[in-house]
Amino acid sequence: MNILEFASGKRSRRSSGEPTPLSPLSMVTCYDYWSAQIIEKTAVDAVLVGDSVSMVVHGFPSTVHADLDMMALHTAAVSRGIKSKLLISDLPFLSFRRGVSEALHAVERLVKAGAQAVKLEGVWGHEEGVEAIVRSGVPVMGHIGLTPQSVHGLGGFRVQGRDEKTAQDLLRQAERLESLGCFSIVLECVPSALAAAITRSVSVPTIGIGAGPHVDGQVLVLHDLLGMSSDFKPKFLRRFCEGESLLHGALQRYASEVAEGSFPSVEESYE
Ligand code: KIV
Repeated sequence: MNILEFASGKRSRRSSGEPTPLSPLSMVTCYDYWSAQIIEKTAVDAVLVGDSVSMVVHGFPSTVHADLDMMALHTAAVSRGIKSKLLISDLPFLSFRRGVSEALHAVERLVKAGAQAVKLEGVWGHEEGVEAIVRSGVPVMGHIGLTPQSVHGLGGFRVQGRDEKTAQDLLRQAERLESLGCFSIVLECVPSALAAAITRSVSVPTIGIGAGPHVDGQVLVLHDLLGMSSDFKPKFLRRFCEGESLLHGALQRYASEVAEGSFPSVEESYE
């Protein structure tokens, strides 16, 4: 899928004016070559090298620990395995807030590493940067609602836009991102009705995570949807397999078959 196909992911809604369950877009995070190769063979539409890599892969407590080196390294690894899907990479914490020139430098690193588009959080205070990136020819995906890079300012990982004032502000942010030229907007952890209202008010596809069904697509963190962490259970998450217990079982079998001497067998050995 290329950027034009992705950006036209709102086609099914626009024609009728009503949200429709037809062909919503699917996006998943990915951080390495191994899982990129698996995703490449699926019907998933787009891949996000999210700054969640700092938590999921590196064990940090939040995404503010992802820096440009980390994002470029993982983007390069993923790009070696992704051939036919839109590859989007996250601009890390503050990298797009230190002026236009630093923002463009960060974008250059990610695009040279293999990203076809970049995602950035929020809009107020860095509109100039968003505009400059769009003008440079690199597609920009916005991200509003629960923006983890601002977790301390938001008072923790919690649903956003529950009161009228913040709901109106999120609506304005989405409209501003569209007017600055973003091709799509992620809505994270906002009430369903607000996500539906934002989706109706912008003409670019909205991609939800914890934003209900009335959006143009969904995104999940790969390790979450694979059930790789048994203690992470937010309300919005559906686990599509129990990865942690599957992998745990396989590793236990390996260890015990080595210990009891049944691995390797004669068939698994060279003469
Ligand atoms: O970094 C990330 O994984 C994200 C998604 C949750 C949208 O930004």
